[in-house]
Amino acid sequence: MNVLVTGAGGMLGQAVVPALERAGHAVTALARAELDVTREADVRGAVAGSAPDWVCHLAAYTDVDGCETRSDHAMLVNGKGAGYAAAAAAQAGAAVLAVSTDYVFAGDDPSPRRESDPVGPLSAYGRSKLAGEEAVRAANPRHVIVRTAWLYGRGGKNFVDTIRARAAAGGPLAVVDDQRGSPTWTGDLAQVLVELMERGASGTLHSTNDGACTWHELACEICALMGADVEVARISSAQLARPARRPASSVLDTGRLERELGRRLPHWRDALARYMGCTGQPAEHASAGRGPEQGR
Ligand SMILES: NC(=O)c1ccc[n+]([C@@H]2O[C@H](COP(=O)([O-])OP(=O)(O)OC[C@H]3O[C@@H](n4cnc5c(N)ncnc54)[C@H](OP(=O)(O)O)[C@@H]3O)[C@@H](O)[C@H]2O)c1
Repeated sequence: MNVLVTGAGGMLGQAVVPALERAGHAVTALARAELDVTREADVRGAVAGSAPDWVCHLAAYTDVDGCETRSDHAMLVNGKGAGYAAAAAAQAGAAVLAVSTDYVFAGDDPSPRRESDPVGPLSAYGRSKLAGEEAVRAANPRHVIVRTAWLYGRGGKNFVDTIRARAAAGGPLAVVDDQRGSPTWTGDLAQVLVELMERGASGTLHSTNDGACTWHELACEICALMGADVEVARISSAQLARPARRPASSVLDTGRLERELGRRLPHWRDALARYMGCTGQPAEHASAGRGPEQGR
């Protein structure tokens, strides 16, 4: 396949581009400096110029709290930008894969959410990503939308690296214990995205590592894997008082993807152990500050 990747400099992009290359595909990897997805004509020109089989759309404004104060910008990048990528793909005869989020759900039902369940985003970020989903469906019938959650991986600010740095600095830690989701390693998700494009998948699919936990449980597991004897206090979302509301439970039902691929993704504890084993020290950008935490 020939694949054009938007947002290629982001955390997920840094896992998807090498995964595509390892699988022998031709990749045009465009970071934000090379392609701003809010510029419709530029998007059309870049896609037409590389004549891809797939546009893998990963560009997004992912600062969940920042989206509350910059909601117009969020809508432009996450809503309109996704539509521009999908439309440019359609014009070039290509399919589009777009990544979306568990935050399109309200999170008031603890049972895992299916693709067909009603959405109800609580935040400007969630609303902008939902607008992106709708724009992709409207612009290109050859689409696959992959909703994922709680990502961590190399090359991006993420909860796992932040907790590692803080635990390595001796803690103490205070972490939110009333939000439940499925931590997902970009390395495992990237492999899924490659397989979905290779199979010519379509429609909306949920993909996370298996199992679920709270941010507090995740922080405890990170400390345990490090062998760090650090106190991890439980706090509530209300105590943390972030600008954006997050779902209390955004666990995704991944059954449809399992039927599509014929396999289940590894459990989040397994993925976390592989990530922490393979990356050595915490990333340089991770803050060793001492504030209370939640992911995303
Ligand atoms: N991180 C998570 O927990 C999570 C969970 C569910 C879904 N997702 C989705 O997964 C996808 C990948 O996210 P990620 O975690 O890899 O986030 P990320 O590291 O923030 O990557 C997104 C990339 O998009 C770029 N970008 C921002 N505005 C752009 C624009 N106007 N034109 C082109 N590129 C632009 C960013 O560049 P700058 O850094 O220079 O702004 C960044 O490199 C996104 O669709 C996100 O919504 C993420």
